[in-house]
Amino acid sequence: MIFSTFARMNLDHCRRLSIAPMLDCTDRHERYFLRLLSRNVLLYSEMVVASGLLHCENTDMFLGHEPLEQPAVLQLGGSNPIDLARASKLVEAAGFQEVNLNCGCPSDRVQNGNFGACLMKDKNIVVDCFKAMQDAVSIPVSIKCRIGVDEFDSWEFFTDFIQTIRNAGCKVFIIHARKAWLQGLSPKENREVPPLHYDFVHRLKAEMPDLNISINGGIKTLDQVQEQLQDLDGVMVGREAYENPWFLHDADERIFGDIRPESDNPADIIAGKARPATRKALLEAYLPYVEKQTADGCPATILVKHLYGLFAGLPGARRYRQMLSNESPKARGRGEAVALIRQAMDQVKE
Ligand SMILES: Cc1cc2nc3c(=O)[nH]c(=O)nc-3n(C[C@H](O)[C@H](O)[C@H](O)COP(=O)(O)O)c2cc1C
Repeated sequence: MIFSTFARMNLDHCRRLSIAPMLDCTDRHERYFLRLLSRNVLLYSEMVVASGLLHCENTDMFLGHEPLEQPAVLQLGGSNPIDLARASKLVEAAGFQEVNLNCGCPSDRVQNGNFGACLMKDKNIVVDCFKAMQDAVSIPVSIKCRIGVDEFDSWEFFTDFIQTIRNAGCKVFIIHARKAWLQGLSPKENREVPPLHYDFVHRLKAEMPDLNISINGGIKTLDQVQEQLQDLDGVMVGREAYENPWFLHDADERIFGDIRPESDNPADIIAGKARPATRKALLEAYLPYVEKQTADGCPATILVKHLYGLFAGLPGARRYRQMLSNESPKARGRGEAVALIRQAMDQVKE
């Protein structure tokens, strides 16, 4: 709970660096794991479809988490203001610090539901959704969007979209600095093919300095994060954080000015008193959580898949990764997942 209180007071500070919502990646286990690396970074959930949340019997599946994960944001997908308002209430009650509306996902499934990036073509629906959500909760509601969709990719279109939602009271925007093509490109291609236009995001901040603006897309190093922070309020990192989580190792010190000693002691790392001295120390700090989650019935595969990239580039990393992916489906008994992770990390020379 220490983190929770800390976070509520410092949400804007935490926005300086956030981890992007990523379906099948940023589940509660990934967020817990990343929190052991940085106690300041703002962690986004995977997108949760509002109507799915409202109709499921066990909302814990989407909303359950450890207090240690906070400050965290839950991202909702949807375009029905009533559903989004009701879902936002559940998000707030579950202890999240912010709720985010997805206006950037271009997948077919999402388009069929008439939400995600296609909402950028209908700013009035976004306004209705934002207002309904913000009226329902006291935590901030933020918007994550692109700089355009399809042929609607001009500066005028982009600023008109943001201005309209700003007029409705929204203060926090996360901008993936490339447009999305709604037809013809897969979601993966839509994260790579349309060119990045960081200039749109910088110009937006210069013209609307009252907004809290985070930039997203293609950022891979803390140097790049620091550079962007010269002009912007925040930087959101997606793939790099997932594929190479150790990139966060110096984030507390360099991005947040939060200087703490390094330690190998799992208890100190979990309590946030120290940051992990090594990747192996980080894994050791994750193991009590693995023990608890597996005892509660969580499959080892789900807990270890987030660890694949931890030793990227080090000798033995391939064997480590193979061992985790091949053996985790068999790790079913008590203590087996923990033993497997220890055995896998022994393959690596750090
Ligand atoms: C596997 C994967 C799943 C994603 N799922 C979501 C999602 O649920 N909601 C969302 O707004 N963006 C999603 N994204 C997009 C990311 O949030 C981010 O905008 C994009 O990856 C660009 O940032 P990056 O270059 O730092 O990765 C996803 C990206 C990836 C790679």
